[in-house]
Amino acid sequence: MGPPKKSTDDLASLPDLDDTILLEELHHRYRRDFIYTYIGDILVSINPYKTLQGLYGEELGHRYGKAKTLSELLPHVYALGSRAYHNVQRQQGNQCVLVSGESGAGKTEITKMLVAQIARLSQWSGDYFLQERIIEVNPLLEAFGNACTVMNNNSSRFGKLIELIFSEDGSLLGATITEHMLEKSRVVRQGQGEKNFHIFYNLMCGFTPEERQRYFLDKPEKYRIIDPGHGAPVIASEIDYDGYREGMDNMRRIMPIVGFTSQDMDVVFALLGAILHLCNIEMAVEPESEQVMVMNEEEIDFAATLLSVQAEDLITVLMANINWVRGERIVYIKSLNQAVDGRDAMAKALYSRLFSWIVQQINFMLHEDEQREGERYVIGILDMAGFEHFQVNSFEQLCINSANERLQHYFNEHIFSLELREYQAEGIKQPKIKFSNNDELLNLLFQKPMGLFSLLEEECLLARTTDMSFIDKLNKQMSKPDLYKKSKHRDPVFGIVHYAGLVTYTAVGFLDKNRENLSTNMQSLMENSKNNLVNELFSAKVLNTGTLDLRNGSGKNKWQRPAFNQPQKRQYAPGDSLSRQAGRKIRQKMKEQKSFQDIPFTPNPNSASAHFKNSLQLLVDRLKTCEPQFIRCIKPNHQKLPNSFDTRLVSEQLKSTGVLETTKIRKSGYAVRLPFDVFMKRYQYIAYPMTASLEPSSRYCNVIIKCAKLSDVQIGLSKVFLKYWQSDHLNAIMDDIIGRVVRAQANIRACLDRRRFLYHLRMSKQDADEVQVLSNYIDHHGDQFFQTMMTQDHHDVSRATRDRLGREVLQSPMNGYYGNQGDSRLPDVFSPSPIIQGGTVGFYKHILQQVLDRYHDLDPDVWCKMFYMEYDRPVAKFYICDKEVYIDGSYEEFDGKRIGLGAFKNPQRDEVTDKIRTYIGKGIRIIKEADGSLSATRYGKNDIIVKGYQYPASHCLSADVIVNQGRLPFDQNVKIFDMEELKSHIGISMRGEAYDRERLLMLSICGLSFIEDKEDDPSTPMLAWYIN
Ligand SMILES: Nc1ncnc2c1ncn2[C@@H]1O[C@H](COP(=O)(O)OP(=O)(O)OP(=O)(O)O)[C@@H](O)[C@H]1O
Ligand SMILES: [Mg+2]
Repeated sequence: MGPPKKSTDDLASLPDLDDTILLEELHHRYRRDFIYTYIGDILVSINPYKTLQGLYGEELGHRYGKAKTLSELLPHVYALGSRAYHNVQRQQGNQCVLVSGESGAGKTEITKMLVAQIARLSQWSGDYFLQERIIEVNPLLEAFGNACTVMNNNSSRFGKLIELIFSEDGSLLGATITEHMLEKSRVVRQGQGEKNFHIFYNLMCGFTPEERQRYFLDKPEKYRIIDPGHGAPVIASEIDYDGYREGMDNMRRIMPIVGFTSQDMDVVFALLGAILHLCNIEMAVEPESEQVMVMNEEEIDFAATLLSVQAEDLITVLMANINWVRGERIVYIKSLNQAVDGRDAMAKALYSRLFSWIVQQINFMLHEDEQREGERYVIGILDMAGFEHFQVNSFEQLCINSANERLQHYFNEHIFSLELREYQAEGIKQPKIKFSNNDELLNLLFQKPMGLFSLLEEECLLARTTDMSFIDKLNKQMSKPDLYKKSKHRDPVFGIVHYAGLVTYTAVGFLDKNRENLSTNMQSLMENSKNNLVNELFSAKVLNTGTLDLRNGSGKNKWQRPAFNQPQKRQYAPGDSLSRQAGRKIRQKMKEQKSFQDIPFTPNPNSASAHFKNSLQLLVDRLKTCEPQFIRCIKPNHQKLPNSFDTRLVSEQLKSTGVLETTKIRKSGYAVRLPFDVFMKRYQYIAYPMTASLEPSSRYCNVIIKCAKLSDVQIGLSKVFLKYWQSDHLNAIMDDIIGRVVRAQANIRACLDRRRFLYHLRMSKQDADEVQVLSNYIDHHGDQFFQTMMTQDHHDVSRATRDRLGREVLQSPMNGYYGNQGDSRLPDVFSPSPIIQGGTVGFYKHILQQVLDRYHDLDPDVWCKMFYMEYDRPVAKFYICDKEVYIDGSYEEFDGKRIGLGAFKNPQRDEVTDKIRTYIGKGIRIIKEADGSLSATRYGKNDIIVKGYQYPASHCLSADVIVNQGRLPFDQNVKIFDMEELKSHIGISMRGEAYDRERLLMLSICGLSFIEDKEDDPSTPMLAWYIN
């Protein structure tokens, strides 16, 4: 056994290693469109900026799913996804995949492929289209959370942890998305050449004229927060316009799938409209009153209408604030800056809470079925906003880069620190590797009380501090000149030497951005909004990570569609306005209250940086509970061009992320280190029988390693040290062993089933022969009986006629009076009794005739009834006309030939009906064959099972169904009810001494169940076919 053969697929298998060799190797592969390369078990991916044909897809995904080791196929993100999925099952432990790289390096794209691959491999758990839904939510998240930046046209402006939840058997049960650190400041302001979140442009291009009118929207250039300024158009080209419009169409398609009703969508759009109007409010100071005035009051009216608050209240909270001084409620007038900040804070709070709410809705939709018992395992995939270095870097870049710094530390910790520490503890020889540890920089940023973020929080808690006073503080306290760079001039600028290079930050606005100035009166205005969504967003608790706590459920669907009437033009006396009226009221209040000289400054403990730190910590804590895998994304050029490899740029990324050192440690180190007990639990069967009970020890571990023919494995004091490919090799052997066990079990089961089936087949043939004999017997005796009856009848008729004639002759001339009396009736023999006489033979004939008549003499238009069962009772019944019926997920009305589930539409049962509709998909087709048998073909994707197939003796199912274990195979005509078998069963029943009428009735029932039918769950939706 040795390392993988295809040397260039794995940098760790190169004979010589230095920066240049690695760079050349990656460049060489990139030129040939090999964008993926391994460093041991770490994947390096270079953004191709072009679509690579044949690199992805279902078939390839399944091939990677079946590969036993990483080196079996070319490096690929699918291989890592498959490995994470298989590891969950093999190791019964949580996994995570950390995707890192600069902004635009391809993290989000690779994350999507990773999720798709894991979902593809997972077992179907019974939830309709869960896999598809997990993938479908991406465009929704990206519309609200991504934006065009200088570095990436679809840059993630939040961190996203997707957790896929699995059961022990590898069924995908659900998913949870956690959002971290949304860059909400982008809502109100963007850097040069950047844009707002995509959704605003989607609305502008995709709204119908009626929607524009409903949300009072004008052309895009009118809205400050999306207008690029300098007369440039908001939508630069027709291609952009089409792209955004398509994005909006996509939203309209996806939002209902996620569970948004039209009312929900309406209030979401209204809120976005309100943000556009709110941010458009212009304010200025009126020289006479020295009070802030709103210059365009129509925007106040629009925003207030869409937020369902009073315009007077909205303008008041913009102009004035409330504070509490020594128990007194003090109203005071805001300065222009405070008013502008307040307006922006309100817009940011609205947007970020709306985003949180949308993520929560997605989570409700992807929520796992908690009813299901058993252990849960999780694969987490983290896609963070990537490292950023612009010309001007602000508070947002500091947060994003610090988060990346923390994740780099997590990588170092896993790849280097932990590994080296374990060598030492276990007495293993250490490889000589130096890696750049970023512990010191993390301390500089996060340490309490002297780290940069702590100092920022402290500065925000003090009154009369400025961005410059913050810089002065930093310059005084930061004592590591190699990590913290002071500005040479007295300006609010400082530099941090990150793992990815020096970034200069401009501290203008740092304090305000950190304070999150949503005043108490703004908060209570929103809480009291008549719009239930606004009301809910502001009543919900904000967690210490900055996200909303909506765990107790959501008010979705609770609200009515608001009216949003066009605001009336206000009539004022000359020189008067809404601002002036509000100003007068505020001043009046101020006159009535006590005056305090020293209105205290009230610091906000929930600062942006506190949220940021908590959120980051939560993320890292979650990652620590998983076994990690790493993907390093690399950006080949800044111009977003295909086929362009900027060696300097790539080299910088390789250096900053320690790719050379990683390669070295993967080459000479042992990536997998398993305690003896874990090693034995996983691999004991390679050398020992399953039943052997062994105490974990180095001796047994050694035997297993020898059996697996592995050399160069190190055994420490309590652990086995393996190279990553050695663990792949052991896993492959185990898969092989388990595979053989499963095959053996399957063969035995198949053998037993076949034997049982052959027995039934033999019996049914025998029965059929006997029925034939019986039938002949009945025919023969029936004929005899009939002949006897006929002779008897004939005799009786003759006698009766004779009698009658005799009486007529005797009575007629004298008693003609009696001629029309009842006496002229025929004797009783002409109204034969329904009671079957003649013992067994009579009964046979009667039953056989009754049953067979049902099948052969039925009106061709009424040959089958369909019952829709719910809660164990039929709630709908349909007669199927014609010889074929399709059942599919459409709402089609019953038209005599085809029937859709629309016939079930009923508000009380919509949920179950919808469930079935989604489930049925393309449907099933049922055909009645000439001899009365039923055949079915399944066109839909999902499984359909024939109920009661286990009891063929009672249900008269066909051999096809028994062979398929009740399942209708896809696209294949299967006989589900066999007329010949039915007859044979009737024969058997009748031959028995006791005639069981119940059983005879049961013989004619078969049912199709749309989901796995549990006997103990009466709510399982099913469809039953009764043939009668
Ligand atoms: N595998 C790929 N194939 C083709 N194009 C790709 C691939 N990966 C990325 N791209 C292109 O690069 C662009 C940027 O990728 P992506 O948004 O994934 O970067 P990112 O690392 O998530 O950046 P950010 O940190 O800014 O969110 C994509 O919009 C797409 O055009
Ligand atoms: Mg991204």
